Amino acid sequence: MLERSNELTAWDRDHFFHPSTHMGMHARGETPTRVIGGGEGVYITDTDGKRSLDAFAGLYCVNVGYGREKITDAIAEQAKNLAYYHAYVGHGTEASIRLAKMIIDRAPQGMSRVYFGLSGSDANETNIKLIWYYNNILGRPEKKKIISRWRGYHGSGVMTGSLTGLRLFHNAFDLPRAPILHTEAPHYFRRPDRSMSEEQFAQYCADRLEEMILAEGPDTIAAFIGEPILGTGGIVPPPKGYWEKIQAVLRKYDILLVADEVVTGFGRLGTMFGSDHYGMTPDLITIAKGLTSAYAPLSGTIVSDKVWQVLVKGSDELGPIGHGWTYSAHPICAAAGVANLELIDELDLVENAGSTGAYFRTELQKAVGDHRNVGEVRGDGLMAAVEFVEDRDDRKFFDPTAKVGPQIAAALLDRGVIGRAMPEGDILGFAPPLCLTREEADSVVKATADAIGSVLGR
Ligand SMILES: Cc1ncc(COP(=O)(O)O)c(C=O)c1O
Repeated sequence: MLERSNELTAWDRDHFFHPSTHMGMHARGETPTRVIGGGEGVYITDTDGKRSLDAFAGLYCVNVGYGREKITDAIAEQAKNLAYYHAYVGHGTEASIRLAKMIIDRAPQGMSRVYFGLSGSDANETNIKLIWYYNNILGRPEKKKIISRWRGYHGSGVMTGSLTGLRLFHNAFDLPRAPILHTEAPHYFRRPDRSMSEEQFAQYCADRLEEMILAEGPDTIAAFIGEPILGTGGIVPPPKGYWEKIQAVLRKYDILLVADEVVTGFGRLGTMFGSDHYGMTPDLITIAKGLTSAYAPLSGTIVSDKVWQVLVKGSDELGPIGHGWTYSAHPICAAAGVANLELIDELDLVENAGSTGAYFRTELQKAVGDHRNVGEVRGDGLMAAVEFVEDRDDRKFFDPTAKVGPQIAAALLDRGVIGRAMPEGDILGFAPPLCLTREEADSVVKATADAIGSVLGR
């Protein structure tokens, strides 16, 4: 039993139901708690005074770093002037209108409107509803199934948890629910046949997708959803040629593409959007995290002109759309978004994500890539992962109960750096704030090499 050092710890254990936490161990005091009190740049400080370099930017969301007064001032100003008004029946605020314009100015070509929500999960719920609405308007009531991928992460609601392709988010929740299907994860390191080249594996993924579409009937498949680069599923860039081949299949069967850019939107890959980075032309784009750098909760569904035109046509028949959240386009969150996007431009953070990201990944590869238990160092922009294996030559994975990934993440934290043990496999992930400097990248790399050495030997 850990010491209950103060009242706050006791209240935490007794009353706070934490997300993604072992409930019993937390309540019984068998796992540590941490109360975060402040943040500055890439560092956070807890109430015991311990400072950590947050190399995962919270949950890959604090993209501009902590303590940015430009954003906190904008939030305070908006709260004083007008803390809330809704966005129903044509209402808006200057902040929400300005932000919609700024998003479309930055979005890939062909995008038209932004529907605001509060979380990545609710934005993906909106996507699915819009896709069904779209096909009903087009007189295709059978075309409703959504194809997602194993290892994809799209949220943890009923629909979005079903879209998510990670067992942890399904177990004992009776998920996934119809009409969601999962196809091959584009994870080259874990390809079924190790003799395949990246291009061959990309073709293999496209072939599996086409087989699924044909088996189900193309007239029943409405959309395909994917993150440009897998995030929570292990930080896995797509194999060469993947998006080109996947999109060719989708076009052939008139299937919409949803790019879930909750992590990649607004600069993380060194381009404003991951779709531009990988040559994707989505019909809908999900945004959240980097939109406000998590200074306030805000998400959005960016709707392409192609989809918008159909929705407009439908509204003449169906009337106002029966879909809305009380807090859609909340003015305080929108003000945070405007200040955040301005700051990203002012500090040239998209460029920094590309250049410092490349430096970070190269140094990480040099420092740990040859370790006998490192199967792969991978990533893109300011996203990186190290995947651990028991045996490199046989690509033999560790027994999951040994919890090698979590042990290394804990050893890293002991060295003052936060990385994330990803949920499926022994994978240590990094997605630091986009303002990371090369010196800070060096300290993450050094701490990672030491942490790996302490758990797995040199
Ligand atoms: C790609 C992606 N989509 C959706 C979500 C869900 O966002 P939220 O946690 O805000 O509901 C996440 C969260 O990590 C994500 O990474």
